[in-house]
Amino acid sequence: MAEKTFYLTTPIYYPSDKLHIGHAYTTVAADALARFKRHQGYDVMFLTGTDEHGQKIERIAKEHGVTPIEYVDKIVAGIKDLWKILDISYDDFIRTTEERHVKAVQTIFQRLYDRGDIYKAEYSGWYCVPCETFWTERQAGTEHICPDCGRPVELVKEESYFFRLSKYADRWLKFIEENPDFIQPPSRRNEMVSFVKQGLEDLCVSRTTFDWGIPVPWDPKHVIYVWIDALSNYITALGYASEDESKFHRYWPADLHLVGKEIVRFHTIIWPMMLMALDLPLPKKVFGHGWLVLEGGKMSKSKGNVVDPVILVDKYGVDAIRYFLLREIPFGADGSYSEEALVKRINSDLANDLGNLLYRTLTMMEKYFGGRVPAPASPDEGPDADLKRVAQEACANAEAAMDRLEISAALEAIWELVKRANKYIDEVAPWSLAREKKNERLGAVMYNLAETLRIVAVMLVPYLTRAPQAIWEQLGLAGSPADVGWQAARQWGLLTPGTQTRRGAPLFPRIEVKKEEKNEVSEEVKAPAEEKISIEQFAQVELKVAEVLAAERVPKSKKLIRLEIALGDERRQILAGIGRSYTPEELVGKKIVVVANLKPAKLMGYESNGMLLAASFPGEGEEEHISLLTVDRDIKSGARIR
Ligand code: MSP
Repeated sequence: MAEKTFYLTTPIYYPSDKLHIGHAYTTVAADALARFKRHQGYDVMFLTGTDEHGQKIERIAKEHGVTPIEYVDKIVAGIKDLWKILDISYDDFIRTTEERHVKAVQTIFQRLYDRGDIYKAEYSGWYCVPCETFWTERQAGTEHICPDCGRPVELVKEESYFFRLSKYADRWLKFIEENPDFIQPPSRRNEMVSFVKQGLEDLCVSRTTFDWGIPVPWDPKHVIYVWIDALSNYITALGYASEDESKFHRYWPADLHLVGKEIVRFHTIIWPMMLMALDLPLPKKVFGHGWLVLEGGKMSKSKGNVVDPVILVDKYGVDAIRYFLLREIPFGADGSYSEEALVKRINSDLANDLGNLLYRTLTMMEKYFGGRVPAPASPDEGPDADLKRVAQEACANAEAAMDRLEISAALEAIWELVKRANKYIDEVAPWSLAREKKNERLGAVMYNLAETLRIVAVMLVPYLTRAPQAIWEQLGLAGSPADVGWQAARQWGLLTPGTQTRRGAPLFPRIEVKKEEKNEVSEEVKAPAEEKISIEQFAQVELKVAEVLAAERVPKSKKLIRLEIALGDERRQILAGIGRSYTPEELVGKKIVVVANLKPAKLMGYESNGMLLAASFPGEGEEEHISLLTVDRDIKSGARIR
């Protein structure tokens, strides 16, 4: 077993709905960190799971007409499928409905009670069901709105158990002062410190008005507050308070809790205070990452702006989606999602930069050396030395970025090398060397390129799950780049000359964006721009024949003509931008076609009540060919067109 351990967690997910691409972000990021640590030789424990209790789940299950456990069982299966589709390499998946968890949470609650940190009193305050959060009168404000999500809170009055949060405030502040890196990034630490300094009230930790939770062991009409239940998963999954605590002793304290920014407060205030009360060491770091946002804010079911990761993986492949998520959200900040941005990343970084480097290199290797890796040359000089330097820098920079949890920056560092290698091809122009029959030099160049690709494959192991292996196999290497470990990227020259490469299909084919798909964010987000309309939709447009009774130019406008029209007995005024093609005089008496049920609009101070139809075709410069739609037989004005 490896000497060094690394314990890393994601939040456990609410199985209240299907997960969207924003949810996938936390877990894909955690997976990249877990794979990176394994690659470095750590014994990694990577935990994820589901947070299945609480009033929210109980209500949703009722709405679906099933029991809570029937409801969650189905959704948890879907969540596990999603992690499989995204190649999430978790070591354990904990469900808070499992017996191992339930029993341990009851023991934890009992221990807190026995130590005098839990007491019974009357609770009167406000509760946000979607966030499963208690708020004071002051926090809920006069409008009684949840300060986190903005939805209405409910008044709760019941006998409850309380946890003495206030007792731990000073100890917590001292801990944060001594461990300034505990909460990352620092902006979130400052927020939490000022929250605690404002004064903490004891936390209500049990409920009696619903049943879907873990019963308080000595008073089972109470169920344990869902956040106390959920946060405990980080130690119950390790066997804490069970007969076998070996994993707990090996992995606790956690090296990193990775969480979204909206749940940093629970992880950095309530959770450490629970651990203090239990006399357990605190986790080493809590990192609050940003959100993946769509137009209109954070992706969420209630906003109706979710994007389904399963559809995206099916369409673009798992590596493309993982790459986008890891590359697009910078350290701690929010990142935005659009299908356009995704396709742009795939085409530029994956297809153009990485895919082309492999394809070009192996095509030339075949053409000049029958696919066999030639011998390297020394001494290195000029661009060769530079390529080697960039490779070593990329490795060091990516490693340093990962240590700072800057996943996006690590990928950027790797791409410095990919781009340098593409530039190297253009600089040394292997085709010219071949033409000039400089075979030894050509061999050295091709060795450098293949060696660069070997290093890139090793470095990509934490982020992409398919491409590194594909590069490895195309290079003709045995085993897998995950087996050789991160240190194999630090060393230049490990590729053995004589290796038979095997060029395969392009790694990432370019995605051609069809014209009609250009404005389409996703099937779920917006309807395709040029979707056909139904006959019912067309029938909503009221087209009628109108007779022009009078017409005059609008003063100071070159194009606008004001028309008085008759629609049967009705008289109306409309404005039309046809003044460059028609004189007012020639319009009078014409039978034209108008949209009769258009909302009125004001143009240069005149109200237009409808719109005439005309065909137009752009001409030279300012000229435009316009032809009015008229009817080819005499028909009364007001006649409906369909
Ligand atoms: N059940 C709690 C966590 C309990 S941990 C002891 C919970 N679950 S959740 O399903 O709502 O969220 C799980 C994770 O997904 C959180 O880290 C949350 O921040 C993350 N995300 C949800 N929507 C997100 C985005 N749009 N973007 C990025 N992350 C997002 O909270």
